[in-house]
Amino acid sequence: MEMKVRPIGVYDSGIGGLTVLKVLKEKLPNESFVYFADTANLPYGNKSKAQIIDYSNNIISWFQNDIGAKLVVAACHTSSGLALEEISDNFAVPIVGTIYPLLNCILNNDFYKKIGVIATPASVAIRTHEKVIIKHGFHGQIFSIECPDFVPLIEADQLNMDALKECARNYLSIFERLQLDTLIYGCTHYPLIKSVIEEILPNGIRYIDPAEHITQEVVRLLTQNSLLNESSDQTPSRFYCSNNPELFSTKVEKLMGIYKPSIALKDVHNSSIECQENGSFKQIDAALL
Ligand code: DGL
Repeated sequence: MEMKVRPIGVYDSGIGGLTVLKVLKEKLPNESFVYFADTANLPYGNKSKAQIIDYSNNIISWFQNDIGAKLVVAACHTSSGLALEEISDNFAVPIVGTIYPLLNCILNNDFYKKIGVIATPASVAIRTHEKVIIKHGFHGQIFSIECPDFVPLIEADQLNMDALKECARNYLSIFERLQLDTLIYGCTHYPLIKSVIEEILPNGIRYIDPAEHITQEVVRLLTQNSLLNESSDQTPSRFYCSNNPELFSTKVEKLMGIYKPSIALKDVHNSSIECQENGSFKQIDAALL
């Protein structure tokens, strides 16, 4: 297949990466996307670095070798921060993560002096965002906090709003005292609860949702490498997950506004298992985002 018309692979542990897919799809309507949610291993935030590297390696290999993606977006900060540096050289396919695309905006604007980052425990344990931002010349202050219960609450069948609000108040109380000028959503799930977060924090804070910056980087790379799909045919996006496609399907329907999306089950961590849904091979329905 001609390189330009190949799909872009996008992955996350679950629904978080849909916040990135949505912006990608808006800005690049001619591109086709394949989304993979590693729901069997969710949440990534409490896994070891070795596990995150292993999962990321398997997913990117599948995108490169089976899907034939022309570019892969790691729409997951935990995978981007813990795995990409270690494994991206193993792949010919270009990979865009969530952290480096933020640098341009942060380093070229005097506004940013006191930044807070909210992220998963795995990301905060090794200060993935802080390290990259400081290493590239940021001279202000940056504080990261982990929010371990956010992803399980966001991914639950029913969102428990009271539990979420209480949890958010506890996590964010330290930021109320620090007088931040900026908050980075350092996990792609968190923009899904931005109304809760932004109600708690003081007015005047600037919020950075990396989805816009990731999309700009994807556009830049595709343009620079003459890989933009010039065909004006809108190609349906395809969705795969590694566990419970029925539940994932209801979430995609709600978040992406797609009526009854069909999701295929795919175990990328065990290549001998083929795509199945309800025990038999299932093709993805045409579902336009
Ligand atoms: N959405 C992912 C991230 O951006 C992973 C969250 C999780 O599974 O813990 O870090």
